[in-house]
Amino acid sequence: MIRHLLKVSDFSKAECEKVINKSIELKKNPKKFTSTLEGETLLMLFEKPSLRTRISFETGMQQLGGHAIFYSIKDSPLGKKENISDTAKVASRFVNIIAARVFKRQDIWDLAKYADVPVINMLDDFAHPCQILGDFQTIKEKKNNLENMKLSYFGDAHNNVTYDLMRMCAILGWRMDVTCPNAPEYSPEQIVLEEISDLSRGTGAEVKVVHDAKEAARDSDIVYTDSWMSYGIPQEQEEERKKAFMPYQVNSSTMKAAKPDAIFMNCLPAMREYEQTTEVIDGPQSIVFDQAENRLHIQKAIMLFLREKF
Ligand code: CP
Ligand code: NVA
Repeated sequence: MIRHLLKVSDFSKAECEKVINKSIELKKNPKKFTSTLEGETLLMLFEKPSLRTRISFETGMQQLGGHAIFYSIKDSPLGKKENISDTAKVASRFVNIIAARVFKRQDIWDLAKYADVPVINMLDDFAHPCQILGDFQTIKEKKNNLENMKLSYFGDAHNNVTYDLMRMCAILGWRMDVTCPNAPEYSPEQIVLEEISDLSRGTGAEVKVVHDAKEAARDSDIVYTDSWMSYGIPQEQEEERKKAFMPYQVNSSTMKAAKPDAIFMNCLPAMREYEQTTEVIDGPQSIVFDQAENRLHIQKAIMLFLREKF
């Protein structure tokens, strides 16, 4: 059966750990893997902009001996010029892996449904699994394990990155406070809350949505935030969103309320003085550039896993 990675919970806990450990190995000894995907091609379909994802996938594929194709679908969205099923079937005749960054979750679900090769989600409106697997590698490297921690998330919680963070915390049996304005447009969708409650059953996880930022930060090992202006959000909403999210900005008092050895994370791109202050993102607790670097290693591990190389 062809495996895909459309959201982080497509992998079991054991598979997430296996991929993270392989990524750590790839990072330590990249030379050992220079021909593992020799002669293979990755197709990358982009409907939204990207810096990290595009560069790290392209570099990663090249480092494994393969080749990556960047294909912008910005001006001819999926499913408009031809059926998504046709795109998926045609691309499967040429390439070994399809990766896509799209606006609508249904589009990547359709790609996966009709492709004959693994499909990787490079971000949609529902998940960002490559980011979250890389982030948990980074946490493991900083904290030495992935046991029983508390992660607090601040800001826009109607959000791809938040959803996969929630899924991962549920899978690992962690505590997570999702801290956001008390409004449906800024809160997790019901379908995600239901999935989290299913995933938490049996793992002992406690993932909850709260509105008191100070309370959420208390006792946190990890403080995480994401953009207030995710790709595709119209510019005219900026002032309104800024006002709604400002009480959830990560600043020095948030970091003081967390554990003394807490780390600060942001998947980037980041706006200083928006979702976090300059002091926090450029301060000693911030690990944002280690997070960014690990995108390279984790995606190499994900591609090797989906191509059944380990
Ligand atoms: N974090 C992340 O996915 O960054 P890009 O949007 O630059 O790819
Ligand atoms: N939530 C952000 C993540 C960027 C990597 C967005 O969708 O733009």
